[in-house]
Formats: sequence, structure tokens, C-alpha cells
Amino acid sequence: MEKREELYRGKAKSVYKTDDADRLILLFRNDTSAFDGKRIEQLDRKGMVNNKFNAFIMQKLEAAGIPTQFDKLLADNEVLVKKLDMIPVECVVRNYAAGSLVKRLGVEEGMKLNPYTFELFLKDDAKGDPFINESHVVAFGWGTAEQLARMKELSLKVNDVLSKLFDDAGLLLVDFKLEFGVFSDGSIVLGDEFSPDGCRLWDKDTKKKMDKDRFRQGLGDVIEAYEEVARRLGVPL
Ligand code: TMP
Repeated sequence: MEKREELYRGKAKSVYKTDDADRLILLFRNDTSAFDGKRIEQLDRKGMVNNKFNAFIMQKLEAAGIPTQFDKLLADNEVLVKKLDMIPVECVVRNYAAGSLVKRLGVEEGMKLNPYTFELFLKDDAKGDPFINESHVVAFGWGTAEQLARMKELSLKVNDVLSKLFDDAGLLLVDFKLEFGVFSDGSIVLGDEFSPDGCRLWDKDTKKKMDKDRFRQGLGDVIEAYEEVARRLGVPL
């Protein structure tokens, strides 16, 4: 597999073409961003930890029947993935109240949501990733009603699989964000990454935050917490 030119540089990952039209290489950098890219810092080992964490989770999801972009790990910071046409919509599932839900509705952080909630945000930093609903996605042509239905179905399946996986590791899966894309055969496939950058994980007993909120809130020991989560799950680092 030959790595070709950079196609796109995101806030935390860079995307490269390859000599295979259906495959891309994702490079996980140490850049850590918050508040729609208004704050960016380099954190040692983050690219490597998130790349390996993501590979571990994507393989668990594939094994549970969820189609993912993951193909194979290439290096500490690089992974080979299926090329997707990304849908610019973030799917957020919440099991406990935190983050923007607490801000928006004034509910107590940590409140159990029964059932879980499913929300959509437009992926657009310049607009502050605004909260949108299904009719906006269809009306503006970001995705079809059928694609959305599949994205929701897969998001809820991911929640079932990962809530159990993290629970077994003594962690609460508070919420998480997923991004999907369309593969060359037209199917909806889970893309982007699943790592402590894009979800909230709390220690079940102490409620200690073990995710990117440590960075957003200046709590320190960000990568140490990611490594602890990886260790509990059995992710080889
Ligand atoms: P929120 O509480 O800020 O809406 O975030 C919900 C979850 O989605 C949380 O785990 C963080 C994740 N998320 C991202 O990873 N990137 C984003 O751009 C947004 C809006 C949320």
C-alpha cells in the first residue's frame, strides 16, 4: 500500500490518498482541540493511543455486525481505512446527562437518561456545530431519510455493544459522537474514530472523568486517563 498526497487535514487527524481508489490512510496526530478548534494543544502519545484505541473498538464493532471503515493498523499513528463519502452530520447518543445537554436544558450532570437520547449536530466548526434535526438533514441534502434511519439504527447498536464493553471495564459510557459515510457500494459505514476524544467515560465507582473533558476543563493527566481506559479494556498500546 503506497501513501500518496494529503487529501484533508482535520483538527486531530490527516487523511491521505493511497494507490487504491477505495482506501485512505488516516494519520492520528498529537493535536488536541476543544471548543470547535478554538483551543489546540499537543499532547504526547495522543496520536498513538487514539489510533490503537480506535482500532480496538472498531474491530469489536465489526465483530458485532456493525460495518466500519477500519481495514488495518499500519503503524503507531496510522491506519488503513475504506474511503467513504462522509455525511457532515454528528450523531450523539447519551446515556447520562453531561456537556451541551446540561447547558441547554439545565438538568443535573450525571442524571440517567431513560431511555437514551439520540441527537444530530451539523459538522461545521465555523457555525459552532449547531444542533439540528432530521428534517434539516433531508431538506438541505446532507443525507436521505433512509441513510439517517440506518445511521440511527447503527448508533443505537454501537451504544448497546460499547455500554457493555465499558461496563465490564468499570466505566460508564456517558455519551459519544459518531460520524458515518457512504462507501462505494452505497452502504452506510461508520467512519471517523471512536476514542476518548469523542465520548465521555466516567469511572463507575468514583465518577472520575476519563475522557477529553479532562482537557476541556483543564483537569490534567489527559493522556494518562486515556491510557488507563485502554489498560482496563485490554487495548495493546
Ligand atoms: P456535547 O455534550 O458537547 O454535545 O458532546 C456530546 C458528545 O459528543 C461528547 O462525548 C463529545 C462528543 N462530541 C465530539 O466529539 N465532537 C463534537 O464536535 C461534538 C459537538 C461532540
